[in-house]
Amino acid sequence: MFEDLDGKVAVVTGGARGLGLEMADALAEMRCAVALLDVGDGVGASADELGERRGVRTLGLHADVTDDAALDAVFGRVTDELGLPSVLVNAAGVAAWSEAEAMPAADWRRVIDINLTGTFLTCQAFARTVLAAEGAGSIVNVSSMSAFVVNVPQRQAAYNASKAGVDQLTRSLAVEWVERGIRVNAVSPGYFLSEMTRQFIDANPETGEGWRARVPAGRLGEPRDLRGLVVFLASDASRYVVGESVVIDGGYTLV
Ligand SMILES: NC(=O)c1ccc[n+]([C@@H]2O[C@H](COP(=O)([O-])OP(=O)(O)OC[C@H]3O[C@@H](n4cnc5c(N)ncnc54)[C@H](O)[C@@H]3O)[C@@H](O)[C@H]2O)c1
Repeated sequence: MFEDLDGKVAVVTGGARGLGLEMADALAEMRCAVALLDVGDGVGASADELGERRGVRTLGLHADVTDDAALDAVFGRVTDELGLPSVLVNAAGVAAWSEAEAMPAADWRRVIDINLTGTFLTCQAFARTVLAAEGAGSIVNVSSMSAFVVNVPQRQAAYNASKAGVDQLTRSLAVEWVERGIRVNAVSPGYFLSEMTRQFIDANPETGEGWRARVPAGRLGEPRDLRGLVVFLASDASRYVVGESVVIDGGYTLV
C-alpha cells in the first residue's frame, strides 16, 4: 500500500525525541531514508539509533527551525548526503503555560516563533529545494486539537493560537503548492504520551487523570497511534487529500 515511500528521503523536524522521532521511525519502517533536524543535543544519537534499528540511511542535524538564514543550507546538506527530500514532517514545537495576563511578551513570541514561523520557514526551505529540482513532495505539519479547542485546566493561549495558525498555514500552502507537486496536510493530536507529557503527568498526576477522564477512548494517545496516519499522509495513498488537518484524539474533541 505505501510502497511509494520505499527509497524516499524524509525530513523530520523535532525528530530527536517524542512524537517526531516516533513518526520518523514509522517512515523509516516504510524504507525512507530519514534526516532528523532538532536543537536537542540528542539528535545525532537518535538518528544513528534509528538507522541501525531500521537499516536505512539517516542523518541527524543540529538545526533550529526559526533560523531562516541556515535552513536552505540544512536542506542542501540533506540533499547532498541522502538525496532530494520528498517528505517533510514538521514536529518541532514547544508549549508554554502562563495566565494570559501575566505572560511575558518574550514567551509569547518564542511559542509563535517556533511553532508557527518555524513551521512556515521549514516548509519554505523544503519547497525551494523540491521545486528547484522539479521534484514532488508531501508535507505533514504537526498541529494539535488545541488549534480549535481550548485545553483545560492549563493556560496556554500562545500555544493554542500558534496551532490555529499552523492549520490555516497548512491550508494556504496546500492551495498554493498542490498544482506544483507539493501536497500539504497536518495531523492534530489530542493528548499524547510523549517524553514531555509523561514527565509532566508524573509530576502532576491529577491533571493527567483529568485529561484522561475526558477522552472517550479511555486513555491518552501513545506515540505509536500516530504511525499509520503520518505514513498515509506522507504517501501517495493520500494523493487527493489536500490541506486537511486530521484530528487524532481518541474522541476528545467530540464531547
Ligand atoms: N504530546 C502531545 O500531547 C501533543 C499533542 C498535540 C500536538 N503535539 C505537538 O507534537 C509536536 C511534538 O511534541 P512532543 O510532545 O513530541 O514534544 P517533545 O518536547 O518531546 O519534542 C519536541 C522536539 O522539538 C524540538 N524543538 C524545539 N524547538 C525547536 C527548534 N526551534 N528547532 C528544532 N527543533 C526544536 C525539541 O528539541 C524536541 O526534540 C509538537 O509540535 C507539539 O506541539 C504534541
